[in-house]
Amino acid sequence: MLTLPDQTGRRILVTGATNGIGLEAAVELARAGASVSIVGRDPKRTEAAAAAIAERAGGAAIESFLCDFASQASVRALAADYRARHDRLHVLVNNAGGVFDTRTVTVDGIEATFAVNHLGYFLLTQLLLDVIQASAPARIVIVASRGHYRGTMDFHDLGYERGYGIMSAYQRSKLGNVLYARALARRLEGGGVVVNSCHPGGVATNIWTSAPGWAAPILTVAKWFMLTPGQGAERITWLAAAAETATTTGGYFHDNRPKEPSALAQDAVLGERLWEESARLVGLQVGPEVAPTTP
Ligand SMILES: NC(=O)c1ccc[n+]([C@@H]2O[C@H](COP(=O)([O-])OP(=O)(O)OC[C@H]3O[C@@H](n4cnc5c(N)ncnc54)[C@H](OP(=O)(O)O)[C@@H]3O)[C@@H](O)[C@H]2O)c1
Repeated sequence: MLTLPDQTGRRILVTGATNGIGLEAAVELARAGASVSIVGRDPKRTEAAAAAIAERAGGAAIESFLCDFASQASVRALAADYRARHDRLHVLVNNAGGVFDTRTVTVDGIEATFAVNHLGYFLLTQLLLDVIQASAPARIVIVASRGHYRGTMDFHDLGYERGYGIMSAYQRSKLGNVLYARALARRLEGGGVVVNSCHPGGVATNIWTSAPGWAAPILTVAKWFMLTPGQGAERITWLAAAAETATTTGGYFHDNRPKEPSALAQDAVLGERLWEESARLVGLQVGPEVAPTTP
């Protein structure tokens, strides 16, 4: 098991912490002494998760926030809520994510996989960036996936109006994660904020419950060979809190080792194009660091 250095005094925000990898990461970070805030979309599940994390972390105080990353207004409300309560954020773990069996469009008119898994990370991070920078040394962890190796980016049809597939949409969103992590790391280089992305492993969680019914037997068998959520969480907590990753930035990691991401993920021009398009889609200005506008 990974032993983390004492995190007392560090404020850490973990999204998607009501379940799976995010919940386990929150437990480990709280056990290490961090002041952990979690984000969930459902009030009851979020309250239950906060209580479970607190109990497993020896009675730590766990703060919770609500946000549905499928709604930009909700992400803006989360950022505003966080800023109203805190002026420091030492670690942001962007972890909330999902898949959609059939093509789904959010209230903002954006394909839901891309909206939740990529734009959700982008908007929240950009809206909290000045708070994170003021907290340096600080870290941003972006939970991507090895699925990004198969991801493509088509700016003429980002939302798969033609040829939607659950996997291709997921892979695109995860390519977006790695591109964004690298683009943000380039911008923040030398400023005391490190940004890294990772593949947490094939982890037995609920993420594929919305996969098509025919995939259920395959997934049941596959789960026998997968990592536990606790093991997956160690890939996150290592980047969030381990001493050896304190100054590492712009990396992509698998099994807590650096790994070369896909050729597309390494394409800085593509990364900048995605940044511009993401900023446009969430209504932020495109700037070197993109200051918060109207949270
Ligand atoms: N499991 C794997 O093998 C694997 C592999 C590679 C990458 N990952 C990545 O790991 C991350 C965590 O996934 P997981 O496997 O732990 O899945 P999970 O058990 O399904 O957990 C996903 C978390 O994200 C939350 N979430 C989903 N959609 C949301 C939305 N619209 N707004 C707010 N919260 C939302 C879920 O909330 P609810 O509890 O409300 O559903 C849950 O807390 C994801 O980014 C995923 O892409 C997982």
